Amino acid sequence: MNDAAITVNGLGKRYRLAAPARYGSLRDSLAALARGAWRRPTAGEDFWALREVSFSIAPGEVVGVIGRNGSGKSTLLKLLARITQPTTGEARIRGRVGSLLEVGSGFHPELSGRENVYLGGAVLGMRRAEITRRFAEIVAFAEVERFIDTPVKHYSSGMYMRLAFAVAAHLDTEILLIDEALAVGDAEFQKRCLGRMGELGRAGRTVLFVSHQLGAVRSLCTRALLLEAGALRQDGPVEAVTAAYLGGGDAAGVAEQIARAPADDPVFRWLALAVEQAGQPTTAVFADQPVRIVLDYEVRERIHGLRVFIDLLDENHELLVRTFHDEHQDAAAAPAPGRWRSVAELPARLLAPRAYWLQVQATIHDVRAVAGPGITVRLDVQRAGGVNRAYPEEPIRARLQPLVAWRTEAA
Ligand SMILES: Nc1ncnc2c1ncn2[C@@H]1O[C@H](COP(=O)(O)OP(=O)(O)OP(=O)(O)O)[C@@H](O)[C@H]1O
Ligand SMILES: [Mg+2]
Repeated sequence: MNDAAITVNGLGKRYRLAAPARYGSLRDSLAALARGAWRRPTAGEDFWALREVSFSIAPGEVVGVIGRNGSGKSTLLKLLARITQPTTGEARIRGRVGSLLEVGSGFHPELSGRENVYLGGAVLGMRRAEITRRFAEIVAFAEVERFIDTPVKHYSSGMYMRLAFAVAAHLDTEILLIDEALAVGDAEFQKRCLGRMGELGRAGRTVLFVSHQLGAVRSLCTRALLLEAGALRQDGPVEAVTAAYLGGGDAAGVAEQIARAPADDPVFRWLALAVEQAGQPTTAVFADQPVRIVLDYEVRERIHGLRVFIDLLDENHELLVRTFHDEHQDAAAAPAPGRWRSVAELPARLLAPRAYWLQVQATIHDVRAVAGPGITVRLDVQRAGGVNRAYPEEPIRARLQPLVAWRTEAA
């Protein structure tokens, strides 16, 4: 007999992508390459967001789901919450499911906070009296007392999320699916969410928690699932899985990407890429120290316009910084054939504590990308003490957090 809370067997989800738009110029294609658009599958193809995923979770387990952007985390939770149907396999769930997913929370925009709480409870099959017993707790947790009779469409996104989390975390469900609840909300609320999820875990609820905040995943979960390009790459103790994702995993990822890059490009070949801080290879870096990106490559032919560049992108793949190996030279030089090492140093106190992507690429200026689409590494910037010395616990909302010179004087 199977008494697991969640059993997932060969679960897969295929999306059919829309027809392609017109193709642009070579320059557009290069720009797309540089933006990282190459990571997206070609339009018109079938695309597996989740492939052959199997695992089972015992009642009372608190499990983190981690992985890069687009690795299938939200898709997995949507399948478990039955918001979308699997293409292959099945997910068996034992118990009532409360969920807080990326896409909406099931709230009805025209209804007030109060009405939505009752509706949510009713959907779970709770009786009115049961919901009433939880109501005060929910409203207090969400801190929306003043707005509880206002339609939720007028809520700020923070208020909406707080109420959605409070409902998911206080109604009677055996299983809780939480997707990126911590992405919005201030530090204080994040702390309460983590506290509440911890309580639920100790009270025997089964929790599946998707987050990019590895610190939170480590403190909350005992086990983690690591998704990579839709496949379950690792399933095990949280420390081992997060370490694989951050450190070893990324180093292996870089080696793989280099191995996959065309080695027969007549002009250029990647040899190695390392991200370092304080002399140590790591992709989990502190905000208050510089980060070095060390690129080793072989130039095979003297070509005018050959350049190596690094893009720094945020989690939404917005380009924040693009920097070229030759930007300090007065005039373009064609590097001689041979082995080269370029070291780029990102200054301390540039990045805010959150996740970024580094994409390293080589191109022949205005002509083509060389040696494939480049190498992508995730950079997890960790907080190092308070960035704001007067308010060390203050959450940091900005993507960049450079040390800005301030002077205030009586005028
Ligand atoms: N409705 C859809 N149609 C087509 N593709 C989709 C759809 N929903 C998701 N995808 C694709 O499936 C892949 C997995 O998406 P998913 O949202 O599960 O990733 P994720 O791991 O949650 O990423 P993130 O960390 O950015 O939230 C992505 O490449 C995404 O673009
Ligand atoms: Mg997601």
